[in-house]
Order: sequence, then C-alpha cells, then structure tokens
Amino acid sequence: MKKIAMLGSGFIGRFYADALHGNRSADKIVSIYSRRQESAQKFADDYGVPHVTTNMEESISNPDVEVVCIALPNNLHEEAVMLCCKHKKAVITTKPLGRNAAEAKRMLEAVEQAGIFNGYLEDLVYTPKFIKAMESVKNGALGRILWAKSRETHPGPHSEWFWNIELAGGGCILDLGCHCVEITRSYIGKDIKPVEVMCWADTQVKPIDAEDHAIGLIKYENGSIAQFEVSWTFRGGLDLRDEVMGTEGTIWINSFLRTGFEMFTTGKGADYVAEKAESNSGWLFPVGDEINELGYNHMFMDMFKSMEEGREPKETFYDGYVVNAILDAAYKSAKTKQWEPVQLDIWRGKEGLTKPSTLTDYDADHYLIKEEMTHFGAKKLILKNKTTGRIEERVLS
Ligand SMILES: NC(=O)c1ccc[n+]([C@@H]2O[C@H](COP(=O)([O-])OP(=O)(O)OC[C@H]3O[C@@H](n4cnc5c(N)ncnc54)[C@H](O)[C@@H]3O)[C@@H](O)[C@H]2O)c1
Repeated sequence: MKKIAMLGSGFIGRFYADALHGNRSADKIVSIYSRRQESAQKFADDYGVPHVTTNMEESISNPDVEVVCIALPNNLHEEAVMLCCKHKKAVITTKPLGRNAAEAKRMLEAVEQAGIFNGYLEDLVYTPKFIKAMESVKNGALGRILWAKSRETHPGPHSEWFWNIELAGGGCILDLGCHCVEITRSYIGKDIKPVEVMCWADTQVKPIDAEDHAIGLIKYENGSIAQFEVSWTFRGGLDLRDEVMGTEGTIWINSFLRTGFEMFTTGKGADYVAEKAESNSGWLFPVGDEINELGYNHMFMDMFKSMEEGREPKETFYDGYVVNAILDAAYKSAKTKQWEPVQLDIWRGKEGLTKPSTLTDYDADHYLIKEEMTHFGAKKLILKNKTTGRIEERVLS
C-alpha cells in the first residue's frame, strides 16, 4: 500500500483519484493540496482524505506521504517536482512534463540526482487498445513500422489557465500533441531517435495567442515517420484515433467516439455522456468505463508495481523530456516553415541508424516489387531486374 499526496483537485486530479481509489485499491490519497480551501475540502470530503492544505510544500513534506502525484497546471510542475526532490518523495506527474524541453530537462536531472522514483503519467499508452496493439507490433504482426499517426482533437479545454500561453506553455500542440507524440514514438520504438519535425500550426478560431489547430510530421532515424493531428476547435466531442502501418500490416484504433456503444435519447434525464461530449441528446457515443478506456487503471498499476519492485515504470521523466524536445522542434518549425532538428541533449537510445534496405529478392536475377491476384484469375508479379533495373511484369495463371 502506498500513501499519496494529490497536488491539484481539478479535472485530472479527480480522474486520478477515481482510478486510485477504484477497484478496491490499497493505495490511498492521504493529503490533498489545492489552490483554494473550498475545492481542497470538497475533494477531501469526496475521497475521504484526512489532510487538506493550500500550501504545496506542506502536502509534499507531510510525513505520511510516500508518493506525490502532480495534477497541477503546467506552469507549476517544475516547482512541485523540485519540492519532491527536496523532501525525497517519489513523484509521478501528469503530462506534459514541462512547458518546454529546458524545463523538462531540469526536472529530469533533479529527480535523477535526488535518486527518487519518477513516473510520467502518459495515460494514452496504457489504454487496453493501445496495450493490445503494441503487443502485436512487438510480436512483428505489422512488420517494420513505417508510419504511425495519432489524432487528438476536441472543442477546447475546460479551465482558464490552458488558454493562457504563459501558464500553459503553448496551445493544442503541447496540450494534446504530447499524447500523440508518445503514442507514435512507442509504436516506432522508443529507442529510435526522432531527428526532425515539420509542423503547420495556426489560430483558426479562438481569440488566443496560442495555436488552436496543428498538424505535424516527425522523422525518425530509421526512416519511420510519425504524424500528429491536434485541435482545440474540433466539433463533435473528443476524437482519439491512431493508425499504424507496417510492411506486414495495419492497425486502426478509435478510442473514444466510435467504440461500438451507440445510444439515442431525446435528452430526458440526460446528463454527463463522456469527456468533452458536446451533446446529451440525439444519437450519442458513450464510453463504457472512461477511467479504464483512457488507461488510468493500467497506468497506476504500472507506476505502483514498479515502485514496489524497485524498477522503472514504462513511462519516466526521461520520456516526458523527449516528448517536450520533439514538441519544441514542432513549435520552431511552425514559425520557420522548415524541417527543424530535434535538440536532444540527453539521448539514451540507439545512434547512427539508417533506413533499412527496400530490396526483397524474388530470384537470383530479380527483386520483387508486388504480387497481386486479379479478378480475372491471373496472378501478376511486378519484378525489377537486378542488373538492368528494368521493371518487368509476369502473369501466372
Ligand atoms: N489525460 C491527461 O493526462 C490529462 C487530462 C487533463 C489534464 N491533464 C494535465 O493535468 C494538469 C492539470 O490540468 P486539469 O485539467 O486538472 O486542470 P484544472 O484546472 O481542472 O485543475 C487544476 C488544479 O490545480 C490547482 N491549482 C493550484 N494552483 C493553481 C494555480 N495557480 N492556478 C490554477 N490552478 C491551480 C487548482 O486548484 C485545481 O485543483 C495539467 O498539466 C494538464 O495538462 C492531463
């Protein structure tokens, strides 16, 4: 059993608390810090938390607290992490790790120097669908991964600080792109180096300084490409979709809007449907168990088991740092309109990879380009002559 301090009693703090206190969990929140006394107290009443404070350090240094869970606005992550280092408390923090790679790097170095457990709460690489898909990718069912694409779009966040570029550190690229980057990076291989980013970003709808819509491409050293699509202006709810394409197969995942659960109501008695749902009448697409579907249960299971077994969790501050570095390059590219290099002062994966050969032998003299069974019963082979380079076609009946 672990005793937890929850920093932040807002949207994600409550999702985390539902996951932590759900399913007869032995891990308990013993201290809640929030900016305002009333919201801290409300959280304490809802989740049976004995210690309530509006002083962050008091919560972290509480002698009962073993693990600190950071669920605060982005501009407060670093301050909270540094206090965990000071008081030598294990720390798990929500995404994004930092508002930029410089902040993330300082946090990574500090937790490693302090020798404390650190986990990065990227829930979307712990969803049941992601875990199953990743298993297939690891087993080679998709062959060599060529392209991984992730989309997170919704009609915009729920609290004022997100819309303030100074407090949030960016717009939808940072807020939603951090999920997409880690999803696609996982499929391509977390030991494969991200090298360059090209990104388009714009403020199409909202009266804000940050971007509310963006599309980006991330090139990896082994020739794989990742793509993210993010928006705070999308209408119709929370759209979470991933696509992975390899030499041997494809995976398409829809995590939220079309999960096989469809419902119609006139609106009578209707209330909450699912995160960021824009309507509670008509045809609806509810999510059966949001806490589980969004990965929170599997994520905390990994975090707490890793802590107990004295090993690193699947997602650490290092991963948060790499994500921030990729997103910094995306912001730069959106300004310069060029491919921008990913600056990774700390890199622990493979180095010097090149794109694998595209040549598949058909016989001693030919490479195979393609074979196809036609509707008229002929099997066609497209071959390339190894010496002359000529493209040839053979029809087998
Ligand atoms: N799926 C996810 O992983 C996910 C989803 C939503 C948010 N988040 C992240 O969680 C963090 C918090 O987001 P949220 O949606 O819970 O926000 P929120 O506004 O709902 O809650 C923020 C909490 O921080 C507390 N707080 C303390 N000092 C504050 C200050 N100076 N200004 C504002 N709030 C202050 C507030 O009391 C509140 O309880 C952010 O880093 C966000 O990116 C992650």
